[in-house]
Amino acid sequence: MKYSSIAGTGAYLPERVMANKDFEAMVDTSDEWIRERTGIKRRHIAAEDQTTSDMALEAALKALQMAGVSKEDIDLIIVATTTPDKVFPSTACIVQRRLGVSGFAAFDVHAACAGFIYALDVANRFIKTGGASCVLVIGAETYSRIINWKDRSTCVLFGDGAGAIVLKAADKPGVMSTHIHADGRHEDSLHVPAGISSGYDLVQREEAFIHMKGNEVFRAAVGVLDAIARETLSINGVQPGDIDWLIPHQANLRIISAAAKKLDLPMDRVVVTVDQHANTSSASIPLALDVAVRDGRVQRGDLLLFEAFGAGFTWGSALVRY
Ligand code: UT7
Repeated sequence: MKYSSIAGTGAYLPERVMANKDFEAMVDTSDEWIRERTGIKRRHIAAEDQTTSDMALEAALKALQMAGVSKEDIDLIIVATTTPDKVFPSTACIVQRRLGVSGFAAFDVHAACAGFIYALDVANRFIKTGGASCVLVIGAETYSRIINWKDRSTCVLFGDGAGAIVLKAADKPGVMSTHIHADGRHEDSLHVPAGISSGYDLVQREEAFIHMKGNEVFRAAVGVLDAIARETLSINGVQPGDIDWLIPHQANLRIISAAAKKLDLPMDRVVVTVDQHANTSSASIPLALDVAVRDGRVQRGDLLLFEAFGAGFTWGSALVRY
């Protein structure tokens, strides 16, 4: 039986930082409201000519360097993104070309804010079944391109960035289990109405932006994340107290705190980056992981619980021995 294990992590954040105060001149909001309701203080915004693959590539190079793995060793690239550079080819193919390698499979996974967990689930299955042995798993997003900058209820919530891991075959886990779910009945709660087959004309009518019923999403996220955390722990025979670090999707500090409280985990065992990065969708978990690995909080042997919730609705979790 093969297992998979995280060999290295990497991240990239664009240079430009937007503070909450910067929104006060644009929409009817305040630094105080954003901090209190979301925990967000600032976010990074991509430069005009910067794309998702630019950020994905930077994060991937750092992960490869930390893992001590050469790009020739990679045999699969999976990019989780809902903001690809192009309709096609996939961002994963673009990253592959820009790394200067070819031949092996590369594809994108589209599961909104749960995208990284979905990609990790797929990568883990590839490794366990012998289909791959060294996978670059990337979450990368340029949400600034689908933000309605006139809508105060969404524009303050998101940021851009990328995170990556190198997932390698190992004799012991590593990834102990992954769990992914979806409930497509909630399409209207969180969506970007414009799409290729829905017609490009929608793009001209502000339909190419995020539409969210924030309250509905909030309530669903809190309930579902608790259920999936319990599912994950129980399948592995693990108690909440055994978790060294909860590394959740970073959408709202209140959602994160509620998840930790329900598990009886103190906040000093939760990695929080939403204050610095805002919601970077599928990039948020690998970004948070990389921050905590590089600042020394996450150590080899630690037990990590990842959990995420997003449009679809989609949600997922993973228990990982780092
Ligand atoms: O990552 C994918 C999943 N996404 C999420 O998990 C996001 C989940 N949702 C949330 O995080 C929260 O629901 C929000 C942060 C989006 C909103 O917080 P809330 O506490 O649920 O506020 P609300 O939507 O109930 O709005 C409360 C009030 C409203 O005013 P009225 O109707 O009470 O007069 C809003 O219009 O706050 C108003 N409001 C704002 N005020 C100042 C909404 N956005 C803003 C704003 N600044 N930016």
